[in-house]
Amino acid sequence: MSAPKRIGVLTAGGDCPGLNAAIRGVAKTAIVEYGMEVLGFTAGYSGLIRKEYIKLEQSMVSGILTLGGTILGTSREKPFKMVDGEPNKPEIIKQNYKELGLDCLVCIGGNGTMKTAWKLSQLGLNVIGIPKTIDNDVWGTDITFGFDSAVAIATEAIDRLHTTANSHQRAMVIEVMGHHAGWIALYAGLAGGGDIILIPELEYNIGKVCKFIEERFAANKPYSIIVVAEGIKVPKKGITAGQFIAENVQLFTGIETRETRLGYIQRGGSPTPMDRILATRYGAYAAGLIAENKFGKMVAIKGNNLTAVPLEEVGGKLSLVKADNSLVKKARNMGISFGD
Ligand code: F6P
Repeated sequence: MSAPKRIGVLTAGGDCPGLNAAIRGVAKTAIVEYGMEVLGFTAGYSGLIRKEYIKLEQSMVSGILTLGGTILGTSREKPFKMVDGEPNKPEIIKQNYKELGLDCLVCIGGNGTMKTAWKLSQLGLNVIGIPKTIDNDVWGTDITFGFDSAVAIATEAIDRLHTTANSHQRAMVIEVMGHHAGWIALYAGLAGGGDIILIPELEYNIGKVCKFIEERFAANKPYSIIVVAEGIKVPKKGITAGQFIAENVQLFTGIETRETRLGYIQRGGSPTPMDRILATRYGAYAAGLIAENKFGKMVAIKGNNLTAVPLEEVGGKLSLVKADNSLVKKARNMGISFGD
């Protein structure tokens, strides 16, 4: 009989709700279903470089399903980014992987993490990726966990802005995260009843944004909610996307305008039930792939089916909102403006 498999797991990149649910999904399935041994590396790829890990027993991953953040910690360490004078980190990782007798490494993260995971698999390591990020911009999967929670938080914020916008008859700008992608702005904007949604994928015109707001006021709609993705282009340095839009709306329309930047609140706290389930499914599926000796893949969901896509196809690509996205079309048909 061959020895039970020994696997490593790490969480890398920005944190998001559901990371602990995914760690739990991997570890519990690996231990209970397949009798594997699980090592949790701390602080993303840094833990792998420094050989810092904890052996994850079943009891240690119990009670973490609802917890935000990650019990393993995270970092934005990019081991393949060579810096003069620094040791050869990929070689150190390879060595540590061997010395620890690992059969596979599960890397839970976003685009950057998947790119590193792919490079590690090219070095000969067995790797499985699990896609997470509030931005929902990982290529190869319909959805990443963390996104639903961020949308829920941003939607609640927009709901709250409605009442104050209405009371003061103001234009309210809310800037949400998303990096280069407009997924959070699109979904939260629709769920929260935003009047204008600005996303990086659709080029806006500030004149059109202002005209739209003026027309709303003229039509007895005494307030406007403008949902802005952080990644939209602004023709000015040292100013955030939301600040730029708010400043210009007030300047050109004369309507009192206020700006809210939601920031890291979108990444914090307990995951939604949907994210708990998605992260759990991803984690369990990853353990199953390892049991079947299937490596070099990222776990993904297409429709409602779990699948695995080659890491090679994922690395370096982004999943962005397309102009013909059905939600964008529906929003336009309902009179929501994208400022274009
Ligand atoms: O990728 C998640 C994200 O929260 C983005 O939406 C945001 O642009 C970025 O991370 C912020 O990064 P940091 O945690 O390094 O400030």
